[in-house]
Amino acid sequence: MKIRHLFCAAIVGAALFGTNLYAQEKALVSANLALTPPMGWNSWNKFACNVSEDLIKEMADAVVKSGLKDAGYVYVNIDDCWQVRRDAHGDIVPDPQRFPHGMKAVGDYIHSLGLKFGVYSDAGSQTCGKRPGGLGHEYQDAIQYAAWGVDYLKYDWCSTTTQDAKASYANMREALDASGRPIVLSICEWGTAKPWLWGKEVGGNLWRTTGDIQDRWGGQQKWPDGTCCSNGVLSIIDQQVGLQSYAGPGHWNDPDMLEVGNGGMTDTEYRSHFSLWALLAAPLISGNDLRNMRPEIHDILTNKEVIAVNQDALGREGERVAKNGDLEVWSKQVQDGGRAVILLNRGSGEQEISVHWEEIGYPSGISASVRDLWQHKDLGKFTGKYSATVASHGVVMVSVKP
Ligand code: GAL
Repeated sequence: MKIRHLFCAAIVGAALFGTNLYAQEKALVSANLALTPPMGWNSWNKFACNVSEDLIKEMADAVVKSGLKDAGYVYVNIDDCWQVRRDAHGDIVPDPQRFPHGMKAVGDYIHSLGLKFGVYSDAGSQTCGKRPGGLGHEYQDAIQYAAWGVDYLKYDWCSTTTQDAKASYANMREALDASGRPIVLSICEWGTAKPWLWGKEVGGNLWRTTGDIQDRWGGQQKWPDGTCCSNGVLSIIDQQVGLQSYAGPGHWNDPDMLEVGNGGMTDTEYRSHFSLWALLAAPLISGNDLRNMRPEIHDILTNKEVIAVNQDALGREGERVAKNGDLEVWSKQVQDGGRAVILLNRGSGEQEISVHWEEIGYPSGISASVRDLWQHKDLGKFTGKYSATVASHGVVMVSVKP
């Protein structure tokens, strides 16, 4: 009896071990992707379905010319509406008017600039823009994407009826890995099935935590068709509270793409939006027209000290550590043991806000150097706390180093 048990255990053990090795081998293709939050540009927030080869090439040029590439932005991602139908073989067909040379030509151009190429599809039968989705074509599409040189896939969640989110995204990751090309998988199911709980396990590199952002400072608003809801910056940051422990190198919470420069917020609000996304270790995917940026917008998107907080190799997501009505303190631990700290004023008048050392994990008696990451200025040494006057809807963002 005992011997039979041992024998069975050995067989089960060998099978499990074998499975693990197989899983590890497969995972290698995409193992080292997105070790810091992805940075790039995406067409949706500004251009929606109005995408074309010319637009994407011009935007790729602008990533380089504007200095965004030097600041770390690398992905040029085409969102919904590049695809129109499937052909007789089931292959996905790009819009022949808008992409007359096909998708590989677009990818080759993006790569020739030293940038990376992203596309969008959907786990269901149709994309949110009613184009063909990936359901039932996952491996076929993955092979196609790899042949085009795709480096990043945003995979949406429209028209998925009774599909299981975790299984659907696991399937797409397996398909992408089977293509042999390392492709970042951006899970876009709006936080519905709590993707932070399983996104890493299925090989997702980032997962949306909320419904769509809109170019607005405030809270949630119903869509024109009465369904809930689009999110302003404040409603999105409130929905990040408590999710910080799920993020880390290779797998990030995604509070949606940036609206910086799209016209619906003041520059102060855009500075706050960008600072908060940086501190949240969010993907920094710009969504404005990079060909025509005001200097103020350019300076926000390319603030290297703020970007360094986002790209810190430790890969911690920051969190809200104090809230007193409209006045908040957010903090992110960085690799050298320091903290990036945001003093956020959500209110309608200027206010003084303090960060106390205990709130960010330091004893109150120590002295720490404080540097302003927007003024690019060392402010000196402070003991116990640092206080600053913060504009309405504004932030003061500092580094604190004991
Ligand atoms: C939404 C998604 C947006 C955009 C859009 C395209 O579901 O959240 O970011 O991709 O679909 O139709």
